[in-house]
Amino acid sequence: MKNIIVAANWKLNKSPNEARTFFNVFLEGFKKNSSVYGQLGKEITVVFFPSAISLEAVSQSLKDTVIQFGGQNIYQESQGAFTGENSAKVIKELNGHYALIGHSERRQYFSENNSGLNKKIQHALQMGLAPMYCIGETLDERENGSTEKVLLAQLTEGLKDVSASNAQSLVVAYEPVWAIGTGKVATPDQVKETHAFVFKTLSNLGFSTTPILYGGSVKAANALELIQIPNVSGFLVGGASLEPQSFLDLILATVKE
Ligand code: PGA
Repeated sequence: MKNIIVAANWKLNKSPNEARTFFNVFLEGFKKNSSVYGQLGKEITVVFFPSAISLEAVSQSLKDTVIQFGGQNIYQESQGAFTGENSAKVIKELNGHYALIGHSERRQYFSENNSGLNKKIQHALQMGLAPMYCIGETLDERENGSTEKVLLAQLTEGLKDVSASNAQSLVVAYEPVWAIGTGKVATPDQVKETHAFVFKTLSNLGFSTTPILYGGSVKAANALELIQIPNVSGFLVGGASLEPQSFLDLILATVKE
């Protein structure tokens, strides 16, 4: 089996209490599948991205496990006069290991762009957090044939001045924007072709071992088919990560290969 990362993006969902309730059920269910649970931290990495206010509750719930977590967004400075922003230093202090950077909702609703995201990636690495950098084209971009151009710009500008040797923790998540939260999954052929392009582009930039996740309406029912596609190293999951059983079913389906 290839090394697999399955990440949950909770977006603006789950209060601290709701997060604790989730983990009571999720961990109990997961531990019953002891052979898969035992591979956590080895071939299988599971990561949660709760909203910032729930990070501490998640940290507490996961403290006796090797399940990872991180922030959905960080600022490129860890402290100072930046009202409303999130700090990589705080994520580290809570024992988080990841920072999600450039999710399409950040790009779309909060005007984040490749050059700003590049600063965040560099800061995450400096602070010892693994950046999970999200890329993906909109429906218009796919339909007018500019998918590769968009992905190329997202990768080259987002990873500018990032050296592969200092970025061994980097993860890239390819998420076609039109497949996020829509129930519309890219076809296996589209995923295959696009992941091959992302892999080739990353390799040209020196990142030939960077894991490439797929995201966009992944659920237990399509996980096994998607994980078998070359250059797919796991998933970034929104909707199907919100219920303990559906996320557990998705993880178990993914590692069946
Ligand atoms: P989805 O979200 O699984 O609900 O499509 C994925 C994401 O936004 O990362």
